[in-house]
Amino acid sequence: MMKFILGLVLVTLISECYGSIYHGYYIGKCGKYNVEEIIFNAVKTHFQRDPDTVSDLIRLQFHDCFVRGCDGSVLLHGENTEKTAHINVGLSGFRTVDDAKEAVEKVCPGVVSCADVLTIAARSAVFMAGGKWYGVETGRRDSLVSHRSEAIANIPKADIPVNQAIQLFASKGLSKEDFVYLMGGHTVGTAHCDTFKNRLYNFHNTGNRDMRIQPLNFLHFLKRTCPRDSRVDNQAFLDQTPKSEFKIDNGYYRQILHNKGILEIDDNLAFSPLTNGIVKQLAYTPGLFHDKFGPAMVKMGRINVLTGNQGEIRRLCRAVNH
Ligand code: HEM
Repeated sequence: MMKFILGLVLVTLISECYGSIYHGYYIGKCGKYNVEEIIFNAVKTHFQRDPDTVSDLIRLQFHDCFVRGCDGSVLLHGENTEKTAHINVGLSGFRTVDDAKEAVEKVCPGVVSCADVLTIAARSAVFMAGGKWYGVETGRRDSLVSHRSEAIANIPKADIPVNQAIQLFASKGLSKEDFVYLMGGHTVGTAHCDTFKNRLYNFHNTGNRDMRIQPLNFLHFLKRTCPRDSRVDNQAFLDQTPKSEFKIDNGYYRQILHNKGILEIDDNLAFSPLTNGIVKQLAYTPGLFHDKFGPAMVKMGRINVLTGNQGEIRRLCRAVNH
């Protein structure tokens, strides 16, 4: 037993010296307080008021991790920060992260990074929305900078071809399978008309619609949501399964196989020979998506993390410490 405990202490010490993230990093770092539980409860308050909390946090974690790594850089406020990039203007969930961070700071100041708060908050929301619980790795530190140009360069647009998306994910250490599992994030949340309107009226400048949108009454429904000349930027649910808009489930994969993908990437994911097989497995194997999504989020959470003496533990998630 003694050997085991010594081993555990050694592993922990080595991990911290060499800067890796691991499951349970905050255990014992805030006295009697359970950091993950405090964050869970803060997220729950938001989730009960607004079911969008889950899509907000999942997307926020994706946009954080893909730019510089999972370092809270997307949370920084200010001129020319990632937040100001057009692709990020629709991001939400910042209040939830701020409230969770504040709750943690109250009992344990200066210990828990914003990058970790976001990671734990996203996992909490996934679980509340029906996803399977997954253990998250923690111990990240927060970035000191955030650049708009880096968000533009790293966040994929709705019409990215599947092979390029696979390359982009590979450049972050994620496999083709991880990419398809993570796209399951589109099981919740919405897309604004400006991200898919071209598919309804002028697909790739053909002057015609994307012929793959089926059946015609679905096309008409989308056209009513996004009239050609309307300036109102409405939204459509990314997962068109009735009553599943706010649930973490595999409905998204079944919908896209039935030509009901909203974004061009959703449609291409279903029909590209590179990904079609994996999409079918996720759509029709009970429980598979639930088993795969959490571990893929954990893997995404490892992208270029700051540890050891890098970065800092921000006091406020929107600003670097002075
Ligand atoms: C090639 C990859 C991807 C592309 C091109 C893409 C693109 C988009 C676009 C254009 C939207 C609509 C945004 C809006 O209109 O406000 C969206 C929404 C969303 N994306 Fe993705 N996405 C990708 C991958 C991911 C991944 C990996 C995740 C998470 C693991 C994710 C999670 C979400 C969520 C949750 C929403 C809904 C947000 C909301 O309702 O506020 N996406 N995505």
